[in-house]
This record gives sequence, C-alpha cells and structure tokens, in this order.
Amino acid sequence: MTTASSHFIIVTYPLQSHLNPALQFAKRLLHIGARVTIAAAASGYRRMFKDSIPEGITIAVISDGCDVGHDPTDGSDAAINDYIAKLKLHGARTLGELIGKSANEGRPVTCVVYSILLSWAADVARKFNVPSALLWIQSATMLNIYYHYFYGYANVIKECEKDPSWSLDLPGLNLQLKARDLPSFVMPSSPYTFALPAFREQFEELEKESNPKIFVNTYNELEPEALRSIEKFSPVAVGPLLPSSLLDGTDPSGDSLDIAFFRRSEDYIPWLNSRSESSVIYVSFGSISVLSRRQTGEIARALLDTSRPFLWVIREKAGGEEESEEDSLTCMDELEKRGLIVPWCCQVEVLSHPAVGCFVTHCGWNSSLESLSCGVPVVACPQWSDQLTNARMIEDVWKTGVRVRKDEEGVVESGEMKRCFEIVMESEEMRKNAKKWRELAVEASEDNLKILRDFVQEVGDDSVGKE
Ligand code: UDX
Repeated sequence: MTTASSHFIIVTYPLQSHLNPALQFAKRLLHIGARVTIAAAASGYRRMFKDSIPEGITIAVISDGCDVGHDPTDGSDAAINDYIAKLKLHGARTLGELIGKSANEGRPVTCVVYSILLSWAADVARKFNVPSALLWIQSATMLNIYYHYFYGYANVIKECEKDPSWSLDLPGLNLQLKARDLPSFVMPSSPYTFALPAFREQFEELEKESNPKIFVNTYNELEPEALRSIEKFSPVAVGPLLPSSLLDGTDPSGDSLDIAFFRRSEDYIPWLNSRSESSVIYVSFGSISVLSRRQTGEIARALLDTSRPFLWVIREKAGGEEESEEDSLTCMDELEKRGLIVPWCCQVEVLSHPAVGCFVTHCGWNSSLESLSCGVPVVACPQWSDQLTNARMIEDVWKTGVRVRKDEEGVVESGEMKRCFEIVMESEEMRKNAKKWRELAVEASEDNLKILRDFVQEVGDDSVGKE
C-alpha cells in the first residue's frame, strides 16, 4: 500500500487557532504523500485570505447555515451555542455530500480528521465506513482535565469555587491546581458554558469507536504524564504543529506559514530587523480576545514606561464589536513614536525573529506552544478558558515565564505589567529554559512525522467512501 491514494478530509472550526494547527497537520500529510482536503465552514472560508492557501491543499466549503453574508457570532455564549448547533446541522449534511462526491470522483476518503467542537464529523465518517481521528488543538493537560471531569471528577471540581484553600490533584498532573488555574468552562460561575456540552459529546463519540484516535498538538517531553494518564483513549502527541521550516531553522518565509483570517501588516519584519537581539517586547492576545478599555490603557502605560521597543498587535474591530482596542487608546501618537502597532502579523515569524526578547500573551494554546517552540520567554496574562491552566504550566512547570497579578476588577495595572516585563527580559534562567524547550520541540517534530506516516499506512486500506 502506498500513500498516494490516501485522501484525508480535515474539518476545522472557523477560528485562526483551529485552522493553524490543522493546516500544519495537512502539510505534514501532504509531505508524506497523502491527498488533503480542508473542509472549511462557509463563514470561515469567506474570511480567509485565499492567496495564502498553500499549493497542494484543496479547500472545500461545508455549510454552517450562515452561507450568505453575515458574521456567524457576536461572541456571546448564546450566539456561539447557536453557531455550534447550526454548524452541526448543516455541516454534517454537507460533509456527507463531500465524502460521497469524493468517492464518485475517484478520490475516496481514507480518513476524516476533525478539530474540537466538531465531534459530529466522526458520526458522519462512521456512516460512510470511513475511519476518523480527533485533532485536539489544546494541550494534553487540558484534555486530561476534561477527561477526568467527565470520568469521575465533575462534582469535586464543582465544589472547588466555594473554598479558596482547595486544590485539585488529578492523575497525570504533577502539580496541584487551584480554582484560578482551571479552565473557565468547568467552573460553575463562568458565564461561558458552550464548550462543556461539546466536550461531553466528544467523549461520547470517542466511546463509540473500537479504536479511537486522538492526535494532540503537543510533544511528549512537554506533557508526558498528562498524555499517559488518559488511559481509555491513549492520545498521541504529533506536535508542535508549526511550520516545519521554522523548526528546522531554515528561513520560515520560504514555507507557507498560515492561512490568515486577518489582513497582515507588512512593515514589522523590516522594523524587527533594525532592532538588537532579544530587545523587543512582543504583545498579542490571540485572535478572539477583546481587552477592556481600562486593560488596554494599562498595557499602553506600561509600554510607554519601559525604555524598551515593542511590537503590539491590536486587531481591527470585528463585526459585532462596539469599538476596537485602538479606538479606546488616547495615546496612539506617543505609542507610535516608541514602538510599532500592527493590526495583525504572522506570529510564528515574529516569535522566531532574534530581536524578540519577550512575549506578552493571553496564553492561548497555540501562542503558548509557539513561545515554547521558538524559545521565547513570556509574560502570561490569561483571560479565560484553557489560558488559565496554560499560564500556570508556563510559570511553574516549564518555567519560561511569569504570570501577572490582577487587581480586584481583574485588570493588570501598568506597574504590575512593567514589573513582569522587566523580570522576563532580565531572566537568564527563563531564556535558558525556553531554549531547552525549543530544542526538544525540534527533535519531537522529526519523530512525530513517523507517527503520521504509520497512521497514513494504517488507515489507507480502510478507504471505502460508500454509504
Ligand atoms: C482560542 C482560545 O482563546 C484559546 O484559549 C485556545 O487555546 C485556542 O482557541 P486564540 O485566543 O485565538 O484561541 O489564541 P491562540 O490559541 O494563541 O491562537 C492564535 C493564533 O493566531 C496563533 O497561532 C498565533 O500565531 C496566531 N496569530 C495571532 C497570528 O498569526 N498573528 C497575530 O497577530 C496574532
């Protein structure tokens, strides 16, 4: 069996944080010799900058019930819930049509790989007798926490908010978690609930498989125990899913780095080229977080108070947002004299630039993994979801950063922010640790290609593609 006839469909949720690892997964399959189609929800496809789609990868559109015109969600819990339900209904139907069409056109689907929040894709694949695999785009630690939540620990975790002295000792986590370290979805008081039912469905879906496959965007050295202790499903690390040219040290611009949902600025690389080594503070809060007016102002003050150059990503206002973070800033002129503010950049390109000395991040999993894989120490400013746990791991397990302290309104004041910048920029220890994680990431990336090669061989024979 050669891999030439293998055809993978990768189904993604329309967020940059899902698409980036899915794309790198796709590129590795392509490199092995498989054919790859990325199934993108219609509203996500509309937002993609099509010129960044790499050669060899086909994008197929599946319906999310928002096929013409408007943005699918305003970011509220109710709107996201509504979107997830629509995507399930319309996406399942159109994914089925795509699998059928591929078979009829002589490109039968060998395997459906799907990202989190999309467990219905496994059900569709099963109906066509096609194997499926989950691509878990958060950390193994997070998979471990949700796994234990649904397999015995839900009530224990629910109790924790009532008692500040409480801490949780889960199998596979070598540290005790406080309430402030747990993902907000499992906290009873959280205003965000949408992910929990989706994760429950995910585990129910995996239970139906005789040989469930979970690929995790991490590497073994980073989270060995967390991976091992999810005994029922034996997840496999295939990360870090970053552009391979970036990991093997060649010029990252030669590789297609992402398919952007945002228009990138073009001036940041020349600007970074003119800065000295490890001198720049890079600030970015991912693709969906919107900071409060007060928080944005505190960051601005902290940046103006340091003598260090900075590169700050402030996204343009998205549909549904009342004002952008930039609209709330009264000191833009001053900031622009001292640093560079861009609406979007290619983050992995920035983090692999030698001028960057520290990354001020919300600790989304991609950003966390990118900081570790590029060897850049961080100021951890978690907002919600898995970011709280990632920040704890960064500070206490991987020891590549410092976590900010927030005031009673949940805001990081400028003095605290500046204190953290200085600690991280001056810490030889954190820089050394970050470098070590980068070296391990490079090694893991080579090893993990073999895992995918074996998987392509394993599922190749099962290609049926007929209902
Ligand atoms: C969301 C959740 O918020 C996060 O907690 C979860 O782990 C994944 O889904 P997001 O907030 O967008 O993700 O953060 P993150 O996971 O860090 O993903 C952002 C991606 O956008 C990263 O891959 C980053 O490299 C990229 N990015 C960000 C850019 O390429 N350019 C930018 O200017 C900013």
